[in-house]
Amino acid sequence: MALSKPQLYRDLAEQLAALLANEANRVANAANAAALIYHGLPDLNWAGFYFREGAELVLGPFQGKPACVRIPVGKGVCGIAAARAAGALVPDVRRFSGHIGCDPTSRSELVVPLIEAGTVSGVLDLDSPVPARFDEDDRIGCQWFGRGVRRSPPPVFGHFARWNPLVGDAILMIRTI
Ligand code: SME
Repeated sequence: MALSKPQLYRDLAEQLAALLANEANRVANAANAAALIYHGLPDLNWAGFYFREGAELVLGPFQGKPACVRIPVGKGVCGIAAARAAGALVPDVRRFSGHIGCDPTSRSELVVPLIEAGTVSGVLDLDSPVPARFDEDDRIGCQWFGRGVRRSPPPVFGHFARWNPLVGDAILMIRTI
């Protein structure tokens, strides 16, 4: 019997914790996390990290096709998630004008910010060739993945508001952490 989505994320989070144990190097940990996520979750065509350098996000370890290297904070799905310190979900990237396309086969996207000491240090980005591939279970599961590749211990997460459409564009859903 197939695992439920939360159970799949729990299993992958345990595997990730084992992979990252005793290793503090962020690049090594992000590389293993991207590989685990890409091969462990169904229907992905890209999984990886961007790390913040000033006003930009810079490409980090990933699995999938080559991607754009620098994204201004505030631009694209990744930059909006970083600027707002919020999860960003795009059910159909073809209907969100702000989407930065790297692989034309991508149809939906989920971005989760990495937050260290109260500031966004990067994002975890997942792309899928399947429209509306991601939901709330994915966002929560991905936050656990993100915790492993930050330099500092995770903060405690509280309750979350519901997904809200970004003002002016109902196709990008934002959920504040
Ligand atoms: N689609 C992203 C850009 C990164 S790629 O998907 C790997 C965005 O709009 O920010």
